[in-house]
Amino acid sequence: MATSSEQQKNEQKQKAAEAALDYVKANLPKQAVIGVGTGSTVNFFIDALATIKHDIEAAVSSSEASTERLKQHGIRVVDLNSVSDLPIYVDGADEIDEHKRMVKGGGAALTREKIVAAVADTFVCIVDESKQVGRLGGFPIPVEVIPMARSYVAREIVKLGGDPVWREGVTTDNGNWILDVHNFDIVDPIHLEQQLNNIVGVVTNGLFAQRGADVTIVASAAGIETLK
Ligand code: 5RP
Repeated sequence: MATSSEQQKNEQKQKAAEAALDYVKANLPKQAVIGVGTGSTVNFFIDALATIKHDIEAAVSSSEASTERLKQHGIRVVDLNSVSDLPIYVDGADEIDEHKRMVKGGGAALTREKIVAAVADTFVCIVDESKQVGRLGGFPIPVEVIPMARSYVAREIVKLGGDPVWREGVTTDNGNWILDVHNFDIVDPIHLEQQLNNIVGVVTNGLFAQRGADVTIVASAAGIETLK
């Protein structure tokens, strides 16, 4: 059974998702393709998106789980390669700072999320207030690795000051593994994002600092705040 604080978080996630739907209604051109992220907050968004499914052309999805949920609602899902224009991408985050830089990948979908975010004109990040932080890194940074490189990448991460923990039993939609890196002292998120991506065997990492969000929709006990 959900505790009252979990329940409150879920209510806030749903409110953020509903506010994102309003944003989409106001800003997505008619019959455009929309980018859809992954996670429990996005699940609320997908459910809300179903109410306007006849007004959108299709969705591009960042995970097999979201694809399945979109299809269950009768929303067409298309391959990103067939799309040249993606006006809006809606996704959640594990942490977000005041510069709209994020940590993502708690749901192991970071690589596809980063690809869809790269294509999108506007990244709308939807969060409950618990995700707002002064400094990124309290949530361990997920790093997707090619399986044979796991130990090598872990040793290189230790040299950068992090403590990697293999997320055992989890294989990403791309067939790779995840290292969750604890205890990074993140002063410059963009630099660390680049350093991690430079390690051979890393597919990508969950720091979304080079390409952060453009709009944050935060749901709190006080209501909805949209930060641009
Ligand atoms: C998945 C993600 C999610 O956006 C992130 O983990 C937040 O998830 P939730 O909405 O369930 O809290 O990056 O890879």
